[in-house]
Amino acid sequence: MSDEELDVELEARLEEQEEFEPPEAFVEQANVSDPAIYEEFEENWPEAWERAANLLDWEEEWDQVLDDSEEPFYEWFVNGKLNASANCLDRHLDDRGDEVAIEWIGELGETRTYTYEELHREVNECAAALRDLGVEEDDVVTMYMPMIPELPVAMLACARIGAPHSVVFAGFSADALATRMNSADSEYLVTCDGYYRRGDPLDHISKANEGLEDVEQDATTVVVDRLGDDLDHDLAEGQVDYDALVADHEGAEVEPVTRDAEDMLFLMYTSGTTGKPKGVKHTTGGYLSYVTWTSHAVLDIKAEDTYWCSADIGWITGHSYIVYGPLALGTTSVMYEGTPDYPDKDRLWQIVDDYDVDQLYTAPTAIRAFMKWGEEYPERHDLSSLRLLGTVGEPINPRAWKWYYKHIGNEECPIVDTWWQTETGGMMVTTLPGIKNMKPGSAGPPLPGISADVVDNSGDPVGAGRAGYLVVNKPWPGMLRTLYKNDERFINEYWDEYSIPERDEWVYFPEDGAKLDEDGYITVLGRVDDVINVSGHRLGTMEIESAIVGVEGVAEAAVVGGEHEMKGEAVYAYVITEDGYEGGADLRDEIVGAVEEAIGPIARPEAVVFTHELPKTRSGKIMRRLLEDIANEDELGDTSTLRNPDVVSEIQQKVQGD
Ligand code: WT7
Repeated sequence: MSDEELDVELEARLEEQEEFEPPEAFVEQANVSDPAIYEEFEENWPEAWERAANLLDWEEEWDQVLDDSEEPFYEWFVNGKLNASANCLDRHLDDRGDEVAIEWIGELGETRTYTYEELHREVNECAAALRDLGVEEDDVVTMYMPMIPELPVAMLACARIGAPHSVVFAGFSADALATRMNSADSEYLVTCDGYYRRGDPLDHISKANEGLEDVEQDATTVVVDRLGDDLDHDLAEGQVDYDALVADHEGAEVEPVTRDAEDMLFLMYTSGTTGKPKGVKHTTGGYLSYVTWTSHAVLDIKAEDTYWCSADIGWITGHSYIVYGPLALGTTSVMYEGTPDYPDKDRLWQIVDDYDVDQLYTAPTAIRAFMKWGEEYPERHDLSSLRLLGTVGEPINPRAWKWYYKHIGNEECPIVDTWWQTETGGMMVTTLPGIKNMKPGSAGPPLPGISADVVDNSGDPVGAGRAGYLVVNKPWPGMLRTLYKNDERFINEYWDEYSIPERDEWVYFPEDGAKLDEDGYITVLGRVDDVINVSGHRLGTMEIESAIVGVEGVAEAAVVGGEHEMKGEAVYAYVITEDGYEGGADLRDEIVGAVEEAIGPIARPEAVVFTHELPKTRSGKIMRRLLEDIANEDELGDTSTLRNPDVVSEIQQKVQGD
C-alpha cells in the first residue's frame, strides 16, 4: 500500500467508530483487571516480564531477564532451563491428571478425549518412538498433518526430546513440503494417510510421497492411519506406521530433556516478499512464557475452562493458542478437524453448545461467512457458556465485529481483536479484555510491556490520526530470534537502526500499515509488502508469480491482492503470454493448476487476466498499486509516472469484460 492508499483505507475505517465497555460480569472474574499493569510494565521493564516466565516451571532460574548486548539478536531469560512438554503436561498431572487436555472432534462426528494423564502417556510413547528412529536433540522433525490429535502429540513429543518441529500446513502442496524440508535439512517426517473433508476421505499420503521425492536428504517417515478402510495405503521403504510404533513403546517414559531458554522450540515457515519462505525460529523460554502469559491475560484462560481456537495447528495461531499456551495453563483445548459448514452451517455453534465452550477464538473471514449464512444458525443453540470472543489474522470490519458481538456473544462477551504475526510468536496489540474499552475495527493498544508506534518512511512518528508503518520499538520474549540459518536475511527483512533524536535503537518492522489514535489504540490497515492475506492465510505474491512464469507460454506475471467480500483479499494474476501463445481457457487452467501445485489450493487465483503489457514505471518497476486498483474496480491512482499509460485502460477493459 502506498501512503495515499493507507489514507483512503483509514477514512473508510473511521466512518463508524464506536466504543464498547468491557461487560461488568467479565471484569469481575478477569485474570487481569488492574489497569496499573500498564505502568508496572513500563516502570519495571524488562524485569516485569518475569511475570510471564513465572507462569512456567523452570528447572533453573534465569540470571538475566534480557540480554540486549547483540542487537537485534536479543536473548530472554538468559541461562534459564526448562522443558516445554513438561510445562504443558507433567506439571499438571498431580492436580489435573484426570481433567481433559484435548477434546478432539472429527469431521464425521467421532470424538476423542485426552486427559492430561492420557496425553502425557502418548507423548511419552511417541517421544520414545521418535528417539528409537534416530531423532536426536536439535534434529528438525517436519510434520505434515491435518487437525488430528497425533499432531499435537508429535509436537509435544519433539519438545520433550529437544527436537524442534517444523509443521507444514496440510493444505500446502507437495512442492511446498519439499522446499521446507530441504531448507531445514529435516530428515524426519510425521504425516498421515489422509483426512476427511465434507464427509469424504481425502488422500494426503500421495502428496507427502510426491514431496518426499524432491527432498534431498534421506528421510524417515512416520504415517498415522487416519482413514482406516476408507483409504488403503502402502508404506514405502523408510516409512513406519504410527500406531505400531507407539504400541512398540507402550508405557515408555522419557525424561524431558533440559533445554536452555534460548534453545529452539520450533521452526515455522512463512511467506515474505521474496519467493523463498522464511524459517522463523522460536525459542523454548521466551516463546513459551509469552504465549502462556497472553493466553492468561488476553484470552482469560483458567484451568477449568473449555477453550476453543478454531484455527489450524499448521499455522502459528494453532501452535501458540491451541497447543502451547492453553496446555501450559492446564486448560481443556478443543480441536476440531473439519469445516464450519459440515454437515450444516451451525456446526461451530453445535460444538460450543455441546462442550460449553468458554472462549472462542476465530478469524474475521469465518465471521463474515457466519454473517452471510445468517443468525438463524447460532440461534439454534445455547451459546450462553461463552465468556470471551477473539479474532485474529486480518483486520475485522466494524460490521462483522458488531455481528459477532451481538449474535455470538449476546453483548455479554468482550471481543479481543488480536494483532500479531508468525514472527511475534504471540499477541502484541489488543485490548486487555478486563480493562480496556473496545473499538470495533481497531485492535487496541499495545499489550503491557510492548512498545509500538506508527512511523513514516524515514522512521519519524506520524502522530495521532495519521496512517504510516507499524513498528515495534522494544524486544519482547516471544519474538523470533532469527530466520533459520540466515541471520543476514533476518536483519535485512525486519530491522532498521533509526537515529531518531533521543531514540537510537533497533526497530522491528512487521510490514503492516497502521494508524495510531489519540488514545493510543492502533488500527491495523494491512500489509505494506508484497504479501497478501487470503482468508487470514499469508501468501507471498512472488511465490505465486514464480509458479505462474514456470508455465509454458507465460512470459511475465504480476500478482496482487484484490478486495474480496468473504476472503478479505483474493489473488489476482496478470499474465503476459509469449509470442505464439494464446491467453485462453486452457492456459488459464494450466496457470491455476501450477499455483495449486507449487503452493496449494489456498493460493488459487480468483482471476487470471491476460494482457500485452504490465503497467511499468520508466525504470521498469511494475506498478502493483494500479493493478490493485483495477482488481478492486477503484478509481485509478496516479498514472503519470508510467512508461506506458495506455496499458492501464486496456487491462481495465479486460477485467470488466471477464
Ligand atoms: C499478518 C500476519 C497472527 C496469527 C495469524 C496470522 C495480519 C493478523 C491481525 C489483526 C489486522 C492482522 C497482519 C499481519 N493480521 N492479525 N488482528 N488485525 N491484521 O499470522 O500468517 O504471520 O500473518 O496478518 O497483516 O502482519 P501470519
